[in-house]
Amino acid sequence: MHDESTVRSAIETLKDPVSGKSFKETGAVKFVSVEKDAKKVNVVVALDVVDDKTKATMTRQLAKVVKIDLGFSGLSVDYQLAKLEKSILGRHDGPMYIGIASGKGGVGKSTVAANLALALTRIGKKIGIIDADIYGSSIPTLFDLDAKAPKATEDKKMMPPTSHGVQIMSTGFFLEGDKPVMWRGPMLGKMLNHFFYDTQWDEEIDIMLIDLPPGTGDVAIDIQKLIPACKMLIVTTPHKSASRVAIKAGYAARELKHDVIGVVENMSHLEHDGERLMPFGEGGGEDVAKKLDTRVVANIPLAQPKDGHHSLFSMEEDTGVIYLGLANRLIKTLA
Ligand SMILES: Nc1ncnc2c1ncn2[C@@H]1O[C@H](COP(=O)(O)OP(=O)(O)O)[C@@H](O)[C@H]1O
Ligand SMILES: [Mg+2]
Repeated sequence: MHDESTVRSAIETLKDPVSGKSFKETGAVKFVSVEKDAKKVNVVVALDVVDDKTKATMTRQLAKVVKIDLGFSGLSVDYQLAKLEKSILGRHDGPMYIGIASGKGGVGKSTVAANLALALTRIGKKIGIIDADIYGSSIPTLFDLDAKAPKATEDKKMMPPTSHGVQIMSTGFFLEGDKPVMWRGPMLGKMLNHFFYDTQWDEEIDIMLIDLPPGTGDVAIDIQKLIPACKMLIVTTPHKSASRVAIKAGYAARELKHDVIGVVENMSHLEHDGERLMPFGEGGGEDVAKKLDTRVVANIPLAQPKDGHHSLFSMEEDTGVIYLGLANRLIKTLA
């Protein structure tokens, strides 16, 4: 069986479909491995255009080299966009990335992400949000945006809509109506690639918040691949049912070498007739913070906005002020 360097040399004679230069010249072959037992070759190829047609043509050419010329029985190809340097991920002065994670759904992860975005905007930061919660995408609704695909720029990049001063990309823009999605991990991986590589983000964005799906799934691993330096903020409620799984999500984040920068305890308490009630018990946030060697950076009360918006608090009301405090604290921590 041929070894990896032989396979690489053979593949590198193929030509880039756009420039016509050999893969050797363009450095398109990013990864080659040979599974000897399975007689299989895995490659990652970076191209300037990664549409279905190009991929199909390229895969045929690769199969000819790997299977017919070299005699392997299997081939798996992953395509990457070569224009990393043109994407937000390739910007040397690019934004700081903060993932918002939780153990389970319904703890207020998206609500916290949205209000934190607003508070950060208020203190002068330019904010983007990537809503990567494919099963429970709610960022478009929180920001009063229609769930329809965003406009494209002339060079076929997606234009993220702006709402309340925040630029937004969401899996929710690509779902038809209210139909649930059955995308699997790899599909979502691609969706994330589009959000990073093929989206015309504002150059000025200081912080990109990423609303992650609850739990410890593939998306976190994809994020790790794309943004190794992504920091994590963990959201929990005071209740054990939430904090127990939030700890797990935190451990998973740490395993992926993501720095956990703090814990937000949401639905922490309820102000009623001047009294502070604890409908979900106490201590969940502290438990999570202790286990993850970090701190509770905000306690958000159980409350509804008073100014008429369904989810976003104005910075004049109590909860808005708490979000401002959180925003300031994060900026200080991250400075
Ligand atoms: N502090 C809070 N007080 C009252 N309701 C809240 C609070 N945080 C979230 N909610 C509500 O709880 C529900 C779940 O919140 P959401 O942000 O969608 O959670 P997640 O993103 O974790 O699934 C929503 O209806 C939201 O309006
Ligand atoms: Mg959500």
